Amino acid sequence: MVAALFAAPSRPVARQTEPEYGPVSDLETMLADASRQLLAFAAKLLVLGSGRSPGPSSHLSQELLDLLAELVAFCDRHFQREEQVLREAGLRAFDRIWQAHTSAHAELMRGFSAAAGGVDAVPPTELAERVVGLIEAFWSEHHVEHDRLACDVLRRRLAPAARFA
Ligand SMILES: [Fe+2]
Repeated sequence: MVAALFAAPSRPVARQTEPEYGPVSDLETMLADASRQLLAFAAKLLVLGSGRSPGPSSHLSQELLDLLAELVAFCDRHFQREEQVLREAGLRAFDRIWQAHTSAHAELMRGFSAAAGGVDAVPPTELAERVVGLIEAFWSEHHVEHDRLACDVLRRRLAPAARFA
């Protein structure tokens, strides 16, 4: 399921006819890197949750906790950098888009933190599935509703300025 969300398109993407503008290119690179990193986190979570980790089972909760802390730190850095690029590119001028996007980042961070906080109360399999579900939501909802929209808005906003530069 997760792998399908991250799979490369089966057909080649049509060649882009417009030049890519700096901030949009930075954002696309950042999002592509995040997709690879989150896929790796999801794979590790599924292995840990299945109990097939090579370490002793008594260390499972600690391994899961360490992995969740790593995931939270990665997402925190990623969202901060993403919001910095969006801010500098002028997305804040689109107030509702900016608010909805940054609120969605904060909501996802709360979800990851809440999952990490439940490491002692929830069976490892359930906890891993819960976090993988959040990662899936990130790509199937957040990426489509917010990240793609931000890229499109910035592409249109930056195009006229670049043409007359
Ligand atoms: Fe985002």
